[in-house]
Amino acid sequence: MTANASVDRASAALRVERLTKVYADGTRALDEFGLRIPSGCFFGLLGPNGAGKTTLIGAVAGLVRAPAGRILVFGHDAVIDVASRLLVGVAPQDVHLDRFLSARELLAYHGRYFGLPKLEATQRADELLDVFDLTAKAKTNPHRLSGGMRRRLLIARALVHRPRLLILDEPTAGVDLELRYELWRYLRRLHGEQGLTVLLTTPDLEEAETLCERVAFIRAGRIAAEGTPAELTERFAASRLEDAYVQAMHT
Ligand SMILES: Nc1ncnc2c1ncn2[C@@H]1O[C@H](COP(=O)(O)OP(=O)(O)OP(=O)(O)O)[C@@H](O)[C@H]1O
Ligand SMILES: [Mg+2]
Repeated sequence: MTANASVDRASAALRVERLTKVYADGTRALDEFGLRIPSGCFFGLLGPNGAGKTTLIGAVAGLVRAPAGRILVFGHDAVIDVASRLLVGVAPQDVHLDRFLSARELLAYHGRYFGLPKLEATQRADELLDVFDLTAKAKTNPHRLSGGMRRRLLIARALVHRPRLLILDEPTAGVDLELRYELWRYLRRLHGEQGLTVLLTTPDLEEAETLCERVAFIRAGRIAAEGTPAELTERFAASRLEDAYVQAMHT
């Protein structure tokens, strides 16, 4: 793998068509799911527990096999084309960070895994430690970081190989108010300065309304509604996105 997969700028950042995922126990997590995320968009995916958000992210990242349907990342097929892997960076919902590496090593190893030469991987690790204000903790094991620092490290890790699509699965779940605002600032900056496409899942309607240019409501493995927060609010004759969400989930 090389770290320079081509980006077809005319394509959507993510295009998912009729994606169905049935787990071995019969759970239908995604049901002919369809979604299109324009390139450069800050996109929010909102839905209740078990709606299929993490399953979708797993399928896009190539971690969950979904034989039915199609996933295109900047025009590259996520199942057969390895280039799509290089274009996506995922900060997962469940934090699993290696016990035996320092924060800096963790970032550098990730870079190596994605094909960066050794020196570049280390430089990139240092750069990201700086961006996420973790330089003072470079030699610290992730398990000795605070919860908020670990979240930041996870987002940094997702960015090491310079993906064009950053996927964040509930990045602010369980973090305090101050840190939430801080993470919002980081994400806005990344999106604004680098034109990164961001797909974010969140249970927090305020977060979606603040950060996202477009939002989709997911319910039982299908999209219930999609649009800008203003469009959705208007479509459901609601006063806030939260009211639109409640209606989309219960009608
Ligand atoms: N490995 C698995 N085996 C069987 N069923 C699974 C598996 N992973 C997820 N599921 C089921 O698939 C459905 C969708 O789960 P998923 O984790 O995608 O939801 P989610 O929208 O991310 O929920 P949450 O908001 O709680 O994170 C749920 O019914 C879940 O129990
Ligand atoms: Mg989830």
